[in-house]
Amino acid sequence: MGRDGELARLSALWDETWRGKGRRLVLSGEAGIGKSRLLRALRESLAEVSWSIRELHCREEWREMPLKATTALIERLLAFGPDDTPQERRDLLRAYLSVYHAPFCDRAYPPIEALLGIGADSPAPSGWSSRPSMPKP
Ligand SMILES: Nc1ncnc2c1ncn2[C@@H]1O[C@H](COP(=O)(O)OP(=O)(O)O)[C@@H](O)[C@H]1O
Ligand SMILES: [Mg+2]
Repeated sequence: MGRDGELARLSALWDETWRGKGRRLVLSGEAGIGKSRLLRALRESLAEVSWSIRELHCREEWREMPLKATTALIERLLAFGPDDTPQERRDLLRAYLSVYHAPFCDRAYPPIEALLGIGADSPAPSGWSSRPSMPKP
């Protein structure tokens, strides 16, 4: 395949990422140059570990909303319905975080609530703020 060097660099970045150093990479180039193939090779090299790999695609109509693919993913994960009220959405977010990301839910809730635009003027429901919070690193 002749992309061992590129693959090694991607693997090194991945390594740092899962050790907790957030990393991002922009892979760009002309159509047909092998971007998708390289990512597939990376994905296959990670197959023995059970990562959750999320693949996001942007849409033309989201051109002015750079984070739309991310918020759409979160809304799907949280199973928001089109008629859910902001309060119902906050409850779903809170429930999801406390089930799947309990150690981080206090820290993660406010920025995600803001990202999704579901915040209320009123304070968070009681119970939420009294959860033990994650110590700062
Ligand atoms: N390193 C490679 N060696 C051989 N074939 C490759 C290599 N990279 C890509 N290809 C082939 O070239 C074509 C285009 O690659 P693709 O990854 O789809 O490009 P891109 O995503 O950049 O448009 C595919 O048929 C793919 O299998
Ligand atoms: Mg491609």
